[in-house]
Amino acid sequence: MIGFSLKNLTFVLLTACFIWFSNAANSQSGGSIFNVLNYGAKGDGLSDDKKAFEAAWADACKVTTSTMVVPSGYRFLMGPTSFSGSNCQRNISFQVDGTILAPTSSSAWGSSGVGQWIEFTQLLGFTIKGKGAFDGRGSVWWTNRQVAKTKPMALRFSSSYKVTVTGITIQNSPQFHLTFEDCDGVLLHHFSISSPGDSPNTDGIHLHNTKNVIIHHTNLSCGDDCISIQTGCKNVLVHNVNCGPGHGISIGSLGIDGTTACVSNITVRDINIHGTMTGVRIKTWQGGDGLVEGVVFSNIQVSEVEYPIMIDQYYCDHSRCKNDTSAVSIANIMFENIQGTYTVQPVHLSCSDSKPCMDLKLTDIQLKPKQEGYHMHKPFCWKAFGKLNAPIIPEVDCLQEGNPLNSWGYNDAQCAA
Ligand SMILES: *[C@@H]1O[C@H](CO)[C@@H](O)[C@H](O)[C@H]1NC(C)=O
Ligand SMILES: *[C@@H]1O[C@H](CO)[C@@H](O)[C@H](O)[C@H]1NC(C)=O
Ligand SMILES: *[C@@H]1O[C@H](CO)[C@@H](O)[C@H](O)[C@H]1NC(C)=O
Ligand SMILES: *[C@@H]1O[C@H](CO)[C@@H](O)[C@H](O)[C@H]1NC(C)=O
Repeated sequence: MIGFSLKNLTFVLLTACFIWFSNAANSQSGGSIFNVLNYGAKGDGLSDDKKAFEAAWADACKVTTSTMVVPSGYRFLMGPTSFSGSNCQRNISFQVDGTILAPTSSSAWGSSGVGQWIEFTQLLGFTIKGKGAFDGRGSVWWTNRQVAKTKPMALRFSSSYKVTVTGITIQNSPQFHLTFEDCDGVLLHHFSISSPGDSPNTDGIHLHNTKNVIIHHTNLSCGDDCISIQTGCKNVLVHNVNCGPGHGISIGSLGIDGTTACVSNITVRDINIHGTMTGVRIKTWQGGDGLVEGVVFSNIQVSEVEYPIMIDQYYCDHSRCKNDTSAVSIANIMFENIQGTYTVQPVHLSCSDSKPCMDLKLTDIQLKPKQEGYHMHKPFCWKAFGKLNAPIIPEVDCLQEGNPLNSWGYNDAQCAA
């Protein structure tokens, strides 16, 4: 009798303990856990685990602050997949400690290809974290073997609010690695993007019509822009980022096919750029409209960069671009404390005849050719107006003081909020 009740008591205590423990574990990682292994994912790198991920997502999505777990020690093959939050609770996390692999077989992408490998859309408060990786295995796309198909971006977020990405690595995307479209509130930190310097069109982070963005403590190596900031972006802060190889940090290209582009309040500071084509750049197509204003590039350390400082209002990525008088205007752009080595031309400011660049400020620029004594190209300016603050090395004697005769004012009617 006594023995029985003791056993009973032990059972009750153990049960209570277990419940307390699992609740504590759950609340520590923020709510309920949905492990893809419990939904039939194999993680053997060969079986397509898409259905398991979708099933885990369907359940995680119903519970606020839940976590979908992709455990370490496994390689999950997953075809193109969309995680939509349209009917989901808030603040869901992806804990990615294992590796998620894109398929390499041509048939996995359909006959014409798809826009992205993994889509995240209509999420409110969403986090990807962990020490795992997303591997796009893009080399089959870079070598043009699937040339007829749309090349997928790796991770694409759209129409989402408050998204965080941290910890993980995104590598070898067929095209852009991490894209945000129509998002508000994006925090990206302590994570990396990596693909070879000669992989075509593999931008690191691409922002389009997205505002209130902070990117910091991030390593970006790729074959195109480390970060590209497109039309509709404002309030973007980028700091403590390593970039290279790649094409540097770019605003643009803007105004393609006569479109209107608006970009404002962008700060890029405390950046290391190594072995890239350009360092910090603004590029616009001829024939566009709109305004880029309020941009600060500050504390930029460059090494072996072809063109550390560039504004190009004649951007053209194919041979036939026609001349046009209209342009996306560029004003109030600060380049400050930019130091290091270049391999082609230290400063290139090529502005539009009809919309000269206004209020450019260059302060404390110290750029040396990579090989001492080797001349390379002198700084170039065309229709560039603004002010120099010493020291400026090498000398930039082509920037014009004051305002152009055809000063266009800050005519940003199309860009007014
Ligand atoms: C979601 O997270 C945000 C920011 O951490 C918090 O303010 C909000 O209360 C959370 N909402 C829910 C429903 O958990
Ligand atoms: C970025 O690279 C540096 C130098 O290799 C390294 O010390 C740092 O931990 C890396 N940061 C991230 C977030 O991977
Ligand atoms: C500019 O963007 C920063 C974030 O980089 C933000 O803190 C600041 O409030 C923005 N300024 C304006 C005037 O919106
Ligand atoms: C565009 O203008 C430039 C400079 O005036 C000129 O050299 C070039 O030939 C023009 N191109 C076309 C296609 O008209």
